[in-house]
Amino acid sequence: MLDRIKALGEGAINEIRASESRQDLEKLRVGLLGKKGELTEILKGLKELDGQMRKEVGREANLLKGKLTRIISQKAEELGQKEVGKSLGMDTGFDFSLPGTELPVGALSPITIVQREIEKIFTGMGFSIVDGPEVEDDFHNFEALNIPEHHPARDMQDTYWLENGQLLRTHTSPCQVRAMFKYGAPLKIIAPGRCFRNENVDASHENTFFQLEGMMIDKNISIANLIYVMKLLLSEVFKRAVKIRLRPGYFPFVEPGFELDLNCLICNGAGCSTCKRSGWIELLPCGMVHPNVLEYANIDPEVYTGFAFGLGLTRLAMMKYGIRDIRVLNSGDLRSLKQFATV
Ligand code: DAH
Repeated sequence: MLDRIKALGEGAINEIRASESRQDLEKLRVGLLGKKGELTEILKGLKELDGQMRKEVGREANLLKGKLTRIISQKAEELGQKEVGKSLGMDTGFDFSLPGTELPVGALSPITIVQREIEKIFTGMGFSIVDGPEVEDDFHNFEALNIPEHHPARDMQDTYWLENGQLLRTHTSPCQVRAMFKYGAPLKIIAPGRCFRNENVDASHENTFFQLEGMMIDKNISIANLIYVMKLLLSEVFKRAVKIRLRPGYFPFVEPGFELDLNCLICNGAGCSTCKRSGWIELLPCGMVHPNVLEYANIDPEVYTGFAFGLGLTRLAMMKYGIRDIRVLNSGDLRSLKQFATV
């Protein structure tokens, strides 16, 4: 009897596994476990057996019953999924009910996030986004910006010179020059990009950093236009009304030149450690385009005027996101980037 149960079990399991439709499976189930099923009959016959035998056979038969019930219901589920798949035209054997594989999600660098935000603000005001090479020449990086050879202003920017006489651009200002030559006046452009200076790297200095240059040239452009555009930019970036002030600043390519300070957003001007108790944060150099610069680019300074500014993108991203060490930004450390994932 025990052998019969064993053989019945083995045969049944093979048949169940091989069945190809729910109907076949149901037939098998009835044949085994239905009212007159083979296993049911064995269980019914238990009472005919005596003592020890009844105990052993009963145990085996019931174990098999449980096993077959489980296997049949698993198979039924499997076949059911296949049938749904077939009806959806997915008859490929692919189990589409399996959960998908999760792909790792990347994140934008905080500099890119801020850059895109500013690009949106400026394109909304009709500015175009322009680009320029990172390997520049003396003319575009210095000469055409009113910084001739031997001009002391060259010392302000520790330049990486290349063996062929070219250089790694020290600022995004050469993009102004290229845009003026290419498009003439009137002109409304911004130029985000990577710049290089031979700095000793520490928590607040990097040899590789990002700036965003801006320039607007037209008839009757005045300091009022400059202030308006800068205020609008900063209130959009910081998502609140901001107070700014202009202090005189010196850059050979603007006259007058300014340092634009932002009223400290942490203490609202009262004085705190972020603004070094002054109430103001030095944020962005700017000014009215020097007539020599316009002339260099064949734009008549008697007809056109303009303003320009050079925003430190890296610095702005650090301020916005409270990043204290500039080295994190170029470290390539995915753990710091991950914090900026939006998904
Ligand atoms: N290019 C300057 C620098 O990196 C920043 C700058 C100052 C840009 C004044 C400008 C400007 O367009 O008007 O130090």
